[in-house]
Amino acid sequence: MPAADPARLVVLVSGAGTNLQALIDACGDPAYGARVVAVGADRDDIEGLARAERAGIPTFVRKVGQFSSREHWDLTLTESVAAFDPDVVVLAGFMKLVGSTFLRRFPDRVVNTHPALCPAFPGTSGPADALAYGVKVTGATLFVVDEGVDTGPIVAQVVVPVEDTDDVEALHERIKVAERRMLVDSVGRMAREGITVSGRRVRFGAPARAT
Ligand code: GRF
Repeated sequence: MPAADPARLVVLVSGAGTNLQALIDACGDPAYGARVVAVGADRDDIEGLARAERAGIPTFVRKVGQFSSREHWDLTLTESVAAFDPDVVVLAGFMKLVGSTFLRRFPDRVVNTHPALCPAFPGTSGPADALAYGVKVTGATLFVVDEGVDTGPIVAQVVVPVEDTDDVEALHERIKVAERRMLVDSVGRMAREGITVSGRRVRFGAPARAT
């Protein structure tokens, strides 16, 4: 039997793109079952875009400030991503909230990675907030994006210890090592098995067919 076509991933980035790089590297193995077909960003001149270009992956940039409204940006971003016909859209350090047009177009197919154990410490400073609170463990969460800030149904989580000597940078770097592994494992399973979302519960595997 011929192998199934690899799942098509579109990855959106805003920065260094180490999570993107981990996905690109994983996709080098045909058994992984996915390939990155495009990388989008909300800003120019970031290492994430350079990583895509070095790998020969098409890129696009859609900056909020170039559009007359947030809704217009969201629509254009939606169309830009849809043009690559993705099976899964991965927000990997993408520092913008996508809107309702985007989410309606790719139902249960947009995932985001957050450097904290949701529902704790949502927003853009998860590692700093965890450190300031004094938790002894934190981690990373992969979730199906909904309209809230880091509130969507959880696909996977990984726990990372907080060390007494940590500053924000050291803690975030330790989280990112675990985060990349979790992202690669989970996106690979999504590509090969699919996911089923029932309310807040997510499991790997296709939805059961009605009999
Ligand atoms: C990750 O920790 C992600 O969860 C957070 O920003 C970081 C992005 O890292 N939102 P990179 O750009 O993938 O290196």
